[in-house]
Amino acid sequence: MGHSAAVWDHRASLELTKDWNGIDQVVLRNPQGASARVSLHGGQVISWRNDRGEELLFTSSKAILKPPKAMRGGISICFPQFGNCGSLEQHGFARSKIWTIEDDPPPLHPNDSLGKSFIDLLLKPAEEDLKFWPHGFEFRLRVSLASDGNLIMISRVRNINGKPFSFSFAYHTHFSVSDISEVRVEGLETLDYLDNLCQKERFTEQGDAITFESEVDRVYLSSPRCVAVLDHERKRTYVMRKEGLPDVVVWNPWEKKSKAMTDFGDEEYKQMLCVDAAAIEKNITLKPGEEWTGRVELAAVPSSFCSDDLDPHLNFF
Ligand code: BG6
Repeated sequence: MGHSAAVWDHRASLELTKDWNGIDQVVLRNPQGASARVSLHGGQVISWRNDRGEELLFTSSKAILKPPKAMRGGISICFPQFGNCGSLEQHGFARSKIWTIEDDPPPLHPNDSLGKSFIDLLLKPAEEDLKFWPHGFEFRLRVSLASDGNLIMISRVRNINGKPFSFSFAYHTHFSVSDISEVRVEGLETLDYLDNLCQKERFTEQGDAITFESEVDRVYLSSPRCVAVLDHERKRTYVMRKEGLPDVVVWNPWEKKSKAMTDFGDEEYKQMLCVDAAAIEKNITLKPGEEWTGRVELAAVPSSFCSDDLDPHLNFF
């Protein structure tokens, strides 16, 4: 995707490149050959490949590759709001901003660095952002690729304001799937959800895994820490483990909405499913000086992996 690769001097596993607009991208690699590509436009992960070079994230062939709009696909950061309300743009401004690389961020737990290739990004509000959202914050994002190929994202939002503020958040994650009608999501059974297709009305999910035969746009509430997306045809299971992120968004635009979206192919809804680790129903409120952390770890494993292993109480971080 990028060009003019140049080796970045102080971390051997990282490579800094520029995209078609001259915006920096960082490529993370692990020794087995897995990789992840992060754009400083939005702090968006635009590619995640396993050690066989297979792309695990969906990107639309119609994606608009010009800022400020976030590219359709990958994993975009929705902050300081998820959804569309008030004067802020849909899913907030973080995904349309240019982030900076932070060489020496406040420390994380040593396990967050050990054996991982990672990059630390920083977003602070610009003057124009303060007009619409008048709160001083620092948003630190670490994107890591582990030695087993797992992709880990850690978001830290700090209030550097004199007053409290509240926000909602999501890792808007477009998984690449073989055929949406062959996919099911496990881990959300029996949960309550808000249905965005019914004015956010609250319903309760039945006992079965979720399958897809029409448009879906839901926020599942207070979900377990572990959710799985099973792709039968490709014999691949995505496992999402999350912390600090109680909710899970499940979205597929299906046929009609796909046709209405300018940056999405008419048939592409078959090849993608969004499952977002999120904090939406209850806003996160930070007092001055406080910090919030939201983490997600994504694994792509062969489907022989048994779903009984999805122990929601697993202490994995
Ligand atoms: C989903 C939302 O997560 O993102 C949908 O639940 C929304 O309501 C979709 O349409 C796409 O949003 P965007 O802003 O990336 O086009």
